[in-house]
Amino acid sequence: MTTTNSGAGVRRRIMSGMRPTGRLHLGHLVGALSQWVEFSRNDETFFEVADLHALTTGYEDTANLRDVVVDNVLDWLAAGVDPERSVIYVQSHVPEISELNLLLSMIVPVAWLTRVPTYKDQIEALGSEIATYGFLGYPLMQLCDIAVMRGDTVPVGRDQLPHLEFGREVVRRFNHLYGQTLVEPQATLSEFPDVPGTDNRKMSKSYGNTIDIADDDATTAKKVRSMVTDPLKVRRGDPGRPEICPVWALHRIVNAERVPWVEEGCRSGALGCVDCKSELAVKLNAFMAPVRERRASLDARAVAAILECGAQKARAVASGTLAAVKRAMHLP
Ligand code: TRP
Ligand code: SF4
Repeated sequence: MTTTNSGAGVRRRIMSGMRPTGRLHLGHLVGALSQWVEFSRNDETFFEVADLHALTTGYEDTANLRDVVVDNVLDWLAAGVDPERSVIYVQSHVPEISELNLLLSMIVPVAWLTRVPTYKDQIEALGSEIATYGFLGYPLMQLCDIAVMRGDTVPVGRDQLPHLEFGREVVRRFNHLYGQTLVEPQATLSEFPDVPGTDNRKMSKSYGNTIDIADDDATTAKKVRSMVTDPLKVRRGDPGRPEICPVWALHRIVNAERVPWVEEGCRSGALGCVDCKSELAVKLNAFMAPVRERRASLDARAVAAILECGAQKARAVASGTLAAVKRAMHLP
């Protein structure tokens, strides 16, 4: 799926985003953010804080939205996303996205939206209060994020693949109706598997099982001590099964060179879970240290300037795309 980039060859246009839903965690760091930083070395990169998407499920309580946006950007910067190399912007600062959303809504059959799996799944999970017109249009707005920036490559998690597939269909329909205008985006998956949280489910704020970028060392150690392990390994001496243990999965991410030692000790019983966790806490904190230090050194007031500059650059691209779309549709 991914196209390789041969350095001097064609620069891809990478576009991705995140909903501002709270502090970012280890899962974001190793799943998305490290990949974003990697892309920004050789490709053009556009990274968006999807505040309008956050409204689709969180429209009732918006009091903290502005603070959460700033917090998210601080986490991005701490992870090494560099505003000199990447365009960092807020979705609602780029009104062209919303205008494109309206224009494209004319050609999208409602059935294309109701059959996107996240539509029914999320309503089942979160209740019918989110069954709004705006939420139904979530994947279309996502396509507009990408298409307005002419993104050709979109790093996303596996759960987002149906949105990308939907978006590609919309682009094909538009280009078929009005002539070749929009770019068909390709998804690219992170090579990292899902990071487990402290309870061994996928690390996610909604499960309360995260190790956060903004946590301090003591909080991390405490969370690690509370992690679930192999339930059959009750005390040191009992043999364990690392492959079902989230502690082992995190060792693999932050303590790769010691993984054979963990594995052998766990299986033979020589290593107890308490010691296994102490070592993980130390290595996890070492892994997070540079990110946390950078986060502590950043000034929230600098974020406003970064976002203003990002919005300007993003709008310069977006207005070009929107003009081409209007021309193609023969709008007067
Ligand atoms: N829907 C994405 C998610 O929940 C976030 C997102 C919004 C996004 N706009 C985007 C991702 C554009 C990629 C491209 O993860
Ligand atoms: Fe998990 Fe480590 Fe205990 Fe094995 S020793 S079960 S890997 S915490």
